Amino acid sequence: MHGHPQVLEGNEVTGDSAAGNLALKARWSDLQAHDARQVSRFEVDMLSIRWRTILFAFVVTLALVPSKISTQQVESVRSQAGMVSSQQWIASQVGADVLSSGGNAVDAAIATGFALAVTHPTAGNIGGGGFMVIRFPNGQSTAIDFREKAPLASHPEMWLDESGEYSSQVHHRSHKAVGVPGTVAGFDKANRLYGVAAWADLVQPAIDLAGEGFELSESLAGSIERFASRSPYEATVSAFTKGGAPYQIGESWSQPDLARSLERIRDERRDGFYQGETASLIAAEMRRGEGLITLEDLARYQARERNTIQGTYRGYDIISMPPPSSGGVAIVTMLNILEAYDLPGMGHNSAEYIHHLAEAMRRAYRDRAQFLADADFSDVPVQRLTSKEHATWLRRNIDSERASVSHPTDVEIVSESPETTHYSVVDADGMAVSVTYTLESGYGSGIVVPGAGFLLNNEMGDFNAGPGLTNESGLIGTTPNLARPQQRMLSSMSPSIVARDGALVAVIGTPGGRTIINTTLQLILNMVDFGMSITEAVAAPRIHHQWLPDRIRVESDGISAQVQSQLEQMGHIVQVGGRQGSANSIGVDLTTGERIGAPDPRSPDSGARGN
Ligand code: DON
Repeated sequence: MHGHPQVLEGNEVTGDSAAGNLALKARWSDLQAHDARQVSRFEVDMLSIRWRTILFAFVVTLALVPSKISTQQVESVRSQAGMVSSQQWIASQVGADVLSSGGNAVDAAIATGFALAVTHPTAGNIGGGGFMVIRFPNGQSTAIDFREKAPLASHPEMWLDESGEYSSQVHHRSHKAVGVPGTVAGFDKANRLYGVAAWADLVQPAIDLAGEGFELSESLAGSIERFASRSPYEATVSAFTKGGAPYQIGESWSQPDLARSLERIRDERRDGFYQGETASLIAAEMRRGEGLITLEDLARYQARERNTIQGTYRGYDIISMPPPSSGGVAIVTMLNILEAYDLPGMGHNSAEYIHHLAEAMRRAYRDRAQFLADADFSDVPVQRLTSKEHATWLRRNIDSERASVSHPTDVEIVSESPETTHYSVVDADGMAVSVTYTLESGYGSGIVVPGAGFLLNNEMGDFNAGPGLTNESGLIGTTPNLARPQQRMLSSMSPSIVARDGALVAVIGTPGGRTIINTTLQLILNMVDFGMSITEAVAAPRIHHQWLPDRIRVESDGISAQVQSQLEQMGHIVQVGGRQGSANSIGVDLTTGERIGAPDPRSPDSGARGN
């Protein structure tokens, strides 16, 4: 059983050093055996030897105290070697251990991803899909696309009933909402192409976590109780409760069926998922629930390697995900628009600044609705949309004092739920990996595959509703992103990497549906224009505008009443409230080379771990 870390209250500690690391680091296997030593999982950065000594004494003292449940303190962490930053600290530790054992950043990302499938079930997955962007130490980059695909029996009208009525329930919450999962194929491909570690070693930590169990945090215990109590599916209730009774905070949660599915993946790589027992269990559940995925769909699934989107912003290089994500294209478009303005002169989150951001966002999201889809199925004008000339054209009608108006011509937007997860990895050699993957909604379709113990996605909801079904209530019916056999649904996920003069600067990304693109944009602006550290850039309040609905959303306490009123006078509708994203990132201190893990304080279980 794995316990929660103790909270090191009141320390000005932000990372580790090689010496501190040696003293404080415990191997994952040791931690499994000696739960009381779990505190040593903190990779603690001490500013001096004196601090190191004091802290070491403190740690030893804590190690003698029986483990207590505590809220994970989300704080930044430093390392001279590698770093993993994710939404679940246990998974970050798994990745850091892979780095310590000689794996590279791709291997650590794979192991972290498998561990998140166990410890972060709202979004971590083997039944979903996502994207991995890799930057090599020589500055070259590549992307692995493991987005889900539409089953062979899909068609653009598949969410209409016999009388032609559109059903949101079928589109988003049924067995037909499940896309052919891509995660296992993506991880397999990434490891074969760019990993150095043995595959089995990357899956085994997740098997151990699923088989032996891990201690439930307050946040996760509450989340799975709420989820399971509403589930109509027997296998889901069985996986997420103790025979119908909720797990309590601090209890150990094991997932034996998931452990066995992971063992098949460990032993047979992708075939352990897309063939054999797991594939049969998925296909059987599809037949039972009138879903479309067949054994053939599973056997045919392939992850794809793609060229990254590359842009520049004030001397920085921006590397991000190409279609079927809209993220990289939209981020580069917005940066190109904003490059012409003196953003620091406006002031961070001032009315003038937010106005210019909103105008850039409005234009990029209109392009997104019009042009973006799986480029294997339609022509996406990537070069044009990411060119400086296109930005100049988009910028021509931005009034510095008045809001534009979004016109719902023939494009409208469907809502996306905010459950996905992003994590970042850097290894000692400087290889950087940025991964965002998802089940789409929190817990995806809510359907656990009976006997296989994992959740299936509801990613088909990211396809448009049906031909011509564009309306004021938020449906979109434009052609490029309609469901077709084997097409990948459009995504906003934007795993990204920032570099300058050949040096790695940051690994960034976030969940949050359509807000993903804007959160990632603001991380870049916060660092480049406002000189924020990665920790500050992640913590700073965020805003969002997505063309339609025509309004600016600002996080709770993100702006003053005066700034809100100034924006309203310019003609903007402003809504303040909620939280936007979970941008578990890593920055590099360019003077010392240290990696700074910056988990997002918006997520209570997130954490960064160095090796
Ligand atoms: O691919 C996409 O853009 C969406 N399915 C992502 C959903 C999402 O981010 C939910 N997350 N927090």
